Amino acid sequence: MSDNGLSRRQYLSTVGGTAVTVSLAGCFGGGGGDGGATEITAGTAPGFPPFEMKQDGELVGFDIDLLEAVVDETDYTLAGWEEFEFKSLIPALTNENIDVVAAGMTINDERDETIDFTDPYYSSNQAIVVREDGDFSPESMSDLSGRPIGAQKGTTGESTVQSELIEPGNLDESNYNSYGNYVLAVEDLQNGNIDAVVIDEPVAQTFAAQRPVTIAFTYETGENFGFGVREGDDEFTQALNDGLSTVRDGNTYQDLTNKWFGQQ
Ligand code: ARG
Repeated sequence: MSDNGLSRRQYLSTVGGTAVTVSLAGCFGGGGGDGGATEITAGTAPGFPPFEMKQDGELVGFDIDLLEAVVDETDYTLAGWEEFEFKSLIPALTNENIDVVAAGMTINDERDETIDFTDPYYSSNQAIVVREDGDFSPESMSDLSGRPIGAQKGTTGESTVQSELIEPGNLDESNYNSYGNYVLAVEDLQNGNIDAVVIDEPVAQTFAAQRPVTIAFTYETGENFGFGVREGDDEFTQALNDGLSTVRDGNTYQDLTNKWFGQQ
């Protein structure tokens, strides 16, 4: 693919966490190079491999490559990336600190009330991850009853714990541990502080490949990930959707899935 990292990393090191906001309204660059193209800033929440993570201090992952490839197909220019905790991404978007969210974010009705989404670009279920060498091998949600479990704050993994375990009375609220990111949750699982983590399946597979943890079972949620955009940024959303379908129609999408998820 044509992405060579453009000014993203350079941008991050010079601008750091400063919010850069550019109005999108009615100022298309009109193609032909980046001169005059509208600059947009993307936001993500690393610690969610292989979608977004830090590698030797650099932000990398499927979402990073995919959004860059998609934006490359549009008249917009990606000025850079900003990192947040997952639960702060929607506020950052609505506050105009960022213009697009690429964070394995599930499209759902609750979020759709505040923001818009592009077309879906990946699907997932939830997975229940446990220690590989442990003696705890749950097979269903009810087996998690009374066990300390964890998920990332503000995620659909957390909602799954709420709706499938806490609300039906199978798990005491005090047994649920909420983490700023999934790496911390999985570390706590490895350390024995919790007995299971509820997390998106492709990310569970990545952790299972890299750490002494394993998927005990999956819980079907039929989630779809989309890029988050501000309500009303319709031209921008349309441009991203067009870019996404171009990237899907060519080899880029397949190349990126092979790169980040292995041959499939
Ligand atoms: N798909 C889940 C959700 O939308 C989890 C996303 C977590 N993403 C991240 N970059 N940490 O709630």
